Amino acid sequence: SGPLVIAVDGPAASGKGTIARALARHYGLPHLDTGLLYRAVGIGVLRAGGDPSQAADALRACDFSEGVMADPGLKSEAAGRAASIVSAHPAVRAALLARQRAFAAQPGGAVLDGRDIGTVIAPAATAKLFVTAASDVRARRRFEELARLGLHVTEDHVLADILARDERDSGRAAAPLVRAEDAVLLDTSAMGVDAAVKAAIAIVEARR
Ligand code: C5P
Repeated sequence: SGPLVIAVDGPAASGKGTIARALARHYGLPHLDTGLLYRAVGIGVLRAGGDPSQAADALRACDFSEGVMADPGLKSEAAGRAASIVSAHPAVRAALLARQRAFAAQPGGAVLDGRDIGTVIAPAATAKLFVTAASDVRARRRFEELARLGLHVTEDHVLADILARDERDSGRAAAPLVRAEDAVLLDTSAMGVDAAVKAAIAIVEARR
């Protein structure tokens, strides 16, 4: 069989990033957090004084250097919010498509996480996971993650933000957040990191 390509999709703070990183480590594969690409575009628009809801402003910000991907500002809620607005523009999705497809097509295989990996970026992936968790659990996790980064917001604020993002990501016309038919659902609401990673590895093993 061909290279191992793992697609991990799911809503904000579902645990998909943690799971994708752990799978990459376990299988010795390169990993791409595709949310960072949209966050880089979102932050680029904000820094240029543009409006994320304007396609032209968002498209101008698609031309960023790889160095931007290490910017700690990408993790902020402001960047996440801007990302979810710019990501609804079909032209933005098209501008970011080639580098994601190229990453997925590496001869040694790859792990990618995002919203449309299993549906659009790598529809022929070896294994597809759709990671979810209850919204209050996701809000708590994101709150703790932000606190660790020294970014202080209330948990209610984080929850409202996550629900708004879910609605934008699921409701948009262009590559909405939806489980691919052949993706395996992994609900991490009641799971710790170790249990979730174990379950994810079992799903991949069953597919290869
Ligand atoms: O995964 P993360 O929360 O970092 O993604 C930020 C935003 O980028 C998401 O809310 C979503 O709108 C957008 N995104 C997307 N497609 C992806 C990854 C992220 O539309 N593959």
